Amino acid sequence: MSNCIERISKIGLVPVVKITNAEDALPLANALYKGGIDTAEITFRSEHAEYAISEIHKQLPDMLLGAGTVLSVDQAKRAVEAGASYIVTPGFNHEVVKWCVEHDVPVLPGISSASELETALSYGLTTVKFFPAESSGGAKKIKDLSAPYQHVKFLPTGGIGLNNMHDYLALPSVLAIGGSFMLPDNLVQAKDWEGIEALAKKAVKTMLDYKLIHIGINHDSCEEAKQTADALCNMFNFTYYPKPKSHFAGVGFELLNQPGRGKHGHIGIYTPYPERALYHLEKIGVHGIEETITRNKKTHLINFVYLDKEVAGFGIHLINPDVKMEV
Ligand code: 3PG
Repeated sequence: MSNCIERISKIGLVPVVKITNAEDALPLANALYKGGIDTAEITFRSEHAEYAISEIHKQLPDMLLGAGTVLSVDQAKRAVEAGASYIVTPGFNHEVVKWCVEHDVPVLPGISSASELETALSYGLTTVKFFPAESSGGAKKIKDLSAPYQHVKFLPTGGIGLNNMHDYLALPSVLAIGGSFMLPDNLVQAKDWEGIEALAKKAVKTMLDYKLIHIGINHDSCEEAKQTADALCNMFNFTYYPKPKSHFAGVGFELLNQPGRGKHGHIGIYTPYPERALYHLEKIGVHGIEETITRNKKTHLINFVYLDKEVAGFGIHLINPDVKMEV
């Protein structure tokens, strides 16, 4: 996977942007960036696409820019010269794909069938746009396509919003989701950049879906941990679960048999996508601790990782449902 494609996968969300007024390009990109989304597909559906890419690239170089609705080699060339790092096409355009492959430019051609997917494979591509996603069979179709083509990653767009993003993102074969829902026409027309920033934040928040899963409390011995578990279970009728290194009172309290990470204990935070969570946390200086990572045996995706940040004497780990279900 190229660095660019890997970064898109970690960002998780690709806003599909149509610039109607050239002067909107920068404030709009800034709003997305400040809202936590540092990529955008600027579509050639407007005459300002090339200018917008170049302007955003100059002023906001950390933004990973793609060019969308690229229909010709000429547009692809102009997009790349202006600063686009990847090209997206709505359908399978042989000329554009050929040019991109020859020039080592990441390209995601639009496909919606197994035959089109095989055409992409014949060019050596393993990452495609799935378009139009909802009307082509949605997440179910991607799941079915992934069975014979297990190494292919999809960027679905078309009809995706806050309400159905997880149908797609939960599939390991989905690279990220794209859509215009992060910048609705009414907000863009009103130049409501704060509104767009808030919507971008909401999209990231909905995607990462953080939830408190459990509090871990350090003890000096197994006996002491068991006493605390019994006390909590007696008081609140929680179910008791013995574990090799701890005792659980319900699923919300983990009483550790010995001091673990954190002076007092730890906080377990659920997210469905720890890789994406780490990418977004790194922007605020919080990193995963490499040696604490465990991965899903089948998908190799992270299902557990401690962060290098403690709060009030509590370490914090991310955990996804695979591990949570074991309690
Ligand atoms: C695209 O080009 O990817 C789609 O037009 C975006 O679809 P949406 O507007 O339904 O999100």
